[in-house]
Amino acid sequence: MAHPDSHVTIHMAASLDGFIARKDGRVDWLETSDEFAGGDTMDPGFVEAFLRTIDCYVMGSRTYETAVSFEARGLGWSYGDKPTFVLTSRELPRIRDTVQFYSGDLAQFVNGRLRPSFRTIWFVGGGAVSGECLRLGLAVEVRYSILPILIGDGISFFEKLDRDIALHLAEVKAYKNGMVELRYEVRGHRDESTERHITNRRLSTAANARSRRSR
Ligand SMILES: NC(=O)c1ccc[n+]([C@@H]2O[C@H](COP(=O)([O-])OP(=O)(O)OC[C@H]3O[C@@H](n4cnc5c(N)ncnc54)[C@H](OP(=O)(O)O)[C@@H]3O)[C@@H](O)[C@H]2O)c1
Repeated sequence: MAHPDSHVTIHMAASLDGFIARKDGRVDWLETSDEFAGGDTMDPGFVEAFLRTIDCYVMGSRTYETAVSFEARGLGWSYGDKPTFVLTSRELPRIRDTVQFYSGDLAQFVNGRLRPSFRTIWFVGGGAVSGECLRLGLAVEVRYSILPILIGDGISFFEKLDRDIALHLAEVKAYKNGMVELRYEVRGHRDESTERHITNRRLSTAANARSRRSR
């Protein structure tokens, strides 16, 4: 059975024109330099505490390959000691004990394997996997960090969406380095309609009870 309040978040950083990497996969532009006087400073203590709330990460194989190359160049591993699930149909090097590979139906994997064990499930890209996650209606939340740069062309935040997906803007934060963090809730998500259904049922039960009492 799924963890009662397990939820899937998609989080990535992108250029203002909506790209998460250049066409050839390079992310050199992530290092931007800007100053926004009215922005917040990122508090390392807060970031650390926040990262502790994430229970596992999910990523596509091309994102994993970037992470592996970062690690090889001494730039570190961004996913701490949290279980990290890599989607791939290939044989890739397993560079940490926390890494596990999966190939197959993504909805079955998330609902059948991840949701029973993890509460906070973070999809960290790339565009192909994020698109798939949204198409399948798995994500309840999208976190989009916009960097102060335009790169003209590249891999889109969400590849190949087949329909519009309505969002609710839930949070906006601007930082001193010019980054803007947007948090959106996915509207019409299964959990939202389930919640509405439960609320409606409660309201109708309460109305029935009131009408029984007044008879
Ligand atoms: N700016 C950011 O925050 C950010 C974040 C993440 C990534 N990126 C960048 O984005 C680029 C990668 O994005 P991308 O869209 O090209 O690729 P991706 O989403 O990282 O990976 C896609 C690949 O994952 C594998 N895959 C996906 N679903 C699968 C499934 N259900 N079963 C088995 N395998 C599955 C397939 O590869 P195989 O089966 O062939 O292995 C597929 O081609 C990289 O350059 C990365 O650095 C940037």
